[in-house]
Amino acid sequence: MSQTRHFASDNYASVHPEVLAAIVAADGGHETAYGADASTAAFDAAVADVFGADALGFPVFNGTGANVVSLMALSPRWGGVVASEHAHINVDENGAPERVGGLKVLPLSAPDGRMSPDSLERWTPDLGDEHRAQPLVLSVTQATELGTVYSLEAMRALTDAAHAAGMRVHLDGARIANAAAALGVSLAEACAGADVLSFGGTKNGAMGAEAVIVLNPELRDELAASLPHLRKATMQLGSKMRYASAQLTALLTSTDEAGAPLWLRNASHANAMAAALREELAPLESDGALRFTQATEANAVFVEIPRTLAATLRESTRFYDWQAGSTPDTVEVRLMASWDTQAEDVASFGALARSSAA
Ligand SMILES: Cc1ncc(COP(=O)(O)O)c(C=O)c1O
Repeated sequence: MSQTRHFASDNYASVHPEVLAAIVAADGGHETAYGADASTAAFDAAVADVFGADALGFPVFNGTGANVVSLMALSPRWGGVVASEHAHINVDENGAPERVGGLKVLPLSAPDGRMSPDSLERWTPDLGDEHRAQPLVLSVTQATELGTVYSLEAMRALTDAAHAAGMRVHLDGARIANAAAALGVSLAEACAGADVLSFGGTKNGAMGAEAVIVLNPELRDELAASLPHLRKATMQLGSKMRYASAQLTALLTSTDEAGAPLWLRNASHANAMAAALREELAPLESDGALRFTQATEANAVFVEIPRTLAATLRESTRFYDWQAGSTPDTVEVRLMASWDTQAEDVASFGALARSSAA
């Protein structure tokens, strides 16, 4: 284990102590397996409290699983899933929606990670054509894979357009907490118009827990019948579910003295650290030594830097290359802050970047 805190991914961060405490509290003795336990009952109550009385939650192991189970629940076998070209389901799940779910992903151009309502027209003419995968689901990622956040108005316009075109709406909320914190709204509000949410816990301080959450009351009965079977058939049903449920409940309900829930504290902190990191690097942009490539609206900074600078910075801190830069000697990198990123991590990265560039 490295004592260095990196900027590679919010998955690199350790488990938040309040989540660990919740796991320990759920431990001991025997409990009924597969979700008929007290911790999962508490999670169900938290879901109803946070997302609405009719919402239903299904804990799963990981974000890819949450996405695939959600999409399978929302689409018939002949459906296709419209999503941004950058969507995790399109590029980072090894084709799981296609291989496991049997659902073709139908990508849309989204230069800053956000799809526009008009862009749905790329796929909607295929509706009814028996030769084409039917665009029956829209999958939106919030916060997006490029660190941007849909405003509530933009989310509403997009989800309304999808519904009007006959689609159901899935929300990949691996970082829904970061989006809600950035927008200053509740988790439920940040999902504006989505039917089913992949709720992200792991990047927000959990040890490894996500959940499929049914948001649309009109789909509750249908999905309450199908989701338990889909979760099992896709190998996402945990036998000792109490431990996953305890993690998710801690994120949703564990509050500080001021009443702020853990999800919000963790996400706000990660977002603030990303903003601070951008500020540290901003003088280098003024000097022409680097170029920010996306807005920093959640917990990621996307920036094009010289390859030589990337190599120097990597001697102390890990981060991902995102794609080739606009010239052969530059590269676009992603710097991601986590719930446990410290101001000193940001300051020393900024100082090293400035001294190396100079
Ligand atoms: C946008 C998005 N969705 C989903 C996931 C979940 O992936 P995993 O299956 O690794 O938990 C990730 C993880 O990086 C992600 O960035």
